Amino acid sequence: MPSKSASVSSKISIHTWQSKKIHGETITMMTGYDFPTATALDRSGIDGILVGDSLGMVVLGYENTLPVTMQEMLHHCRAVARGASRALLVGDLPFMSYQVSNAEAVRNSGRLLQTGGMDAVKLEGGRERAAAVRAIVSSGIPVMGHIGLTPQSVHQLGGWKVQGKSAGAARRLLEDALILEDAGCFSIVIEAVPVELGQLISERLMIPTIGVGAGLGCDGQLLVAHDVLGLFDRFTPHFVKKYADLFSQMQQAFGEYIADVKARRFPAPEHSNSMDPQEYHDLVREIEMLEAELKSAGNHSERLH
Ligand code: KIV
Repeated sequence: MPSKSASVSSKISIHTWQSKKIHGETITMMTGYDFPTATALDRSGIDGILVGDSLGMVVLGYENTLPVTMQEMLHHCRAVARGASRALLVGDLPFMSYQVSNAEAVRNSGRLLQTGGMDAVKLEGGRERAAAVRAIVSSGIPVMGHIGLTPQSVHQLGGWKVQGKSAGAARRLLEDALILEDAGCFSIVIEAVPVELGQLISERLMIPTIGVGAGLGCDGQLLVAHDVLGLFDRFTPHFVKKYADLFSQMQQAFGEYIADVKARRFPAPEHSNSMDPQEYHDLVREIEMLEAELKSAGNHSERLH
């Protein structure tokens, strides 16, 4: 029987999330793409880490998320899995890893769990993804949906725009959410929609909703770690709250290092290792003897010629 304190730090599952929704406890989630961030998030007590394909933009420098491959996702998933032991780990299915066929969707989802160390997968889209969700869930893999602003469809959406602003568009998103729930999703990310819609969908679904730019009415909140930490300076969506400015701090630290190296202030004695004086003395003697031997050998060979 696990003790109470043991259960506080025990592994979070999709059932923990469901129970949080039932008990009105807000779910916390953040993206993470590497070992140190995953370790810090896990130790901070986060409920879920999303290895999002946003890593293509904030870590790899792509224009958008479309170029991200399964190999890149797996590489980052493994690093996160090594750093986090408590949070629920969700791996994003990248563009074209689940759209072509349900068989590919199942196979690539399996890879995220089997070799990526994830607990669940996320895919983008509404009703058009219901069959893929059913196929993945029926193979025993928990699936998180993602509706609203779906970055893999950025060209179809005509840019990074708030979705569901009209009654018709909002109704369609609500229908999509209900269809995804019916297909077996354990949770749905709702991105960049009006607060009214975020709340309306969250109230009508049995499964937890995780909002990113979807207001307080969602069952949980998610942000991109690089936005929160101020590590991505290309642009920051208006719904982001920045908790640190690490990019400036990083630039300052690198600048100080460069100045120290140029001024020969680094490495200082405390950053260096010294030899035992007797060992050093012996070394100098040995080198002197060796040099003397080489010199005399050189003189001999000169005489032979
Ligand atoms: O890739 C990602 O990080 C995401 C979230 C922003 C929802 O999909």
